[in-house]
Amino acid sequence: MSTPLSDATIPVLRGGMVGMGMIFDETYAPFFETARGGLYDAAAGLFRVELAGAATRTGDRAAAYQSRTGISPFGNFAGESAVADLLASGIDFLCVASPDDKHFEAARLGIEAGRHVIIEKPSVLSLDELDQLAALARENGVLAKVVYHKLLDPDHKKLRTLVQDGVLSHVNNGYCTLLEPKSISGSQFASWITGRNPGTYVAVHYLKLIDFTFGGRLKSVSCTGQRGLVGPSDGPTWDSTQLRLVYEYESGREAAFDIHTSWVTPDNFPGYVEQEVQFRFDNGVWNGHSRKRGVELTVEDRTPHELKTTINNHYNGSFLEPWNARSRRGYGIEVIERFAREVAYVELGGPEEGRAGRLAEMAALDYNDLAADRQVVAAVQAMEAILAKHAVGEPNGLVEVNGKHGGLALFLPGKSEPEMLYQGTV
Ligand SMILES: NC(=O)c1ccc[n+]([C@@H]2O[C@H](COP(=O)([O-])OP(=O)(O)OC[C@H]3O[C@@H](n4cnc5c(N)ncnc54)[C@H](O)[C@@H]3O)[C@@H](O)[C@H]2O)c1
Repeated sequence: MSTPLSDATIPVLRGGMVGMGMIFDETYAPFFETARGGLYDAAAGLFRVELAGAATRTGDRAAAYQSRTGISPFGNFAGESAVADLLASGIDFLCVASPDDKHFEAARLGIEAGRHVIIEKPSVLSLDELDQLAALARENGVLAKVVYHKLLDPDHKKLRTLVQDGVLSHVNNGYCTLLEPKSISGSQFASWITGRNPGTYVAVHYLKLIDFTFGGRLKSVSCTGQRGLVGPSDGPTWDSTQLRLVYEYESGREAAFDIHTSWVTPDNFPGYVEQEVQFRFDNGVWNGHSRKRGVELTVEDRTPHELKTTINNHYNGSFLEPWNARSRRGYGIEVIERFAREVAYVELGGPEEGRAGRLAEMAALDYNDLAADRQVVAAVQAMEAILAKHAVGEPNGLVEVNGKHGGLALFLPGKSEPEMLYQGTV
């Protein structure tokens, strides 16, 4: 942990956490532990970031973190009013990293209290929720952002660069897979897994990658999946999902993408979290494979469980730097730091009369702004609705996006009229 700079004239941005689970340990904790030592931004100058408190279900993990790190002062809030209490304790921004069906309420409270908010993916589960949060953020003059750290993965940045520069032209189709180990569904998320699916949890990374990298207009969503391992084979909890999206581009040409996800892969599978993508263009093919980035590690009695066999050293690795300092770095941490810099730019990047302009500039960044997450949230909402119908015996639904019936129209086999999930334009 960095030592805070003692100069009281250095401005401090105080952050609050909602949820202190796995993603907190992997990305937010290393970010806060480094940023308390100070960050420098050309526009905002030198500033510090502090973790001022947390709102969690029981307060146990926050207490354990506080005693492990000695961080003080720190507000540990639990129970019904935890988020409101955290907001009242005087923070500048709120990080929402609770289970995905709890994001909306915490984010709403944060924005209404006039705090900048960053939400873990998937941002929210419906377009109605997104509309409300985006409108509230505008009214309250704050940033409402979403974490999609895979957009900062150097491989994905390279893909987008090649597309933007016209080196790769017109994507026609592609597939993505992300397979999580059984320990995720079986123990890590056991307390909130009932009724959930791995598509909302991880396909969403690729929904954003496809939407952000290739642009275009989402036309339809279909999905199926399997049950029987995490929960009963006729219940609402999914082991694996296969999602298909169709997009249309300005040229009138279409592309289709298949995204397969699971959270029941054996724990000793060497990929651990296995990620693979392939995109086919008019003039090329992009193949990405997390296990083939180059490193394979074997340590007797320690891999593949305690240490991973194929390590992702780009996401949030722990390192001994060549100058002998210990560090944790990677794109999972960089994405949170980037948000803190955006907040600092708005609040500290110039005189008060320029704040609205700085806010508009940061809100226009479509890689992370909530208002730019419409097609991703539409796909998540469609997928969840299709799976919910499947779970009650009506499988093989298809959601048409912005068709003649409205924004999101769910068609089920044997029914002539669609069920409307969202009437407005997506
Ligand atoms: N960016 C990524 O790759 C990535 C990876 C993992 C998780 N996530 C996202 O982060 C979020 C949390 O996932 P996780 O892996 O940390 O889960 P987790 O189960 O490890 O932790 C959840 C945390 O939320 C707290 N919590 C539960 N209900 C709450 C409530 N009502 N109010 C406040 N806190 C509550 C729990 O106490 C726990 O601290 C999810 O949205 C998930 O999709 C993102």
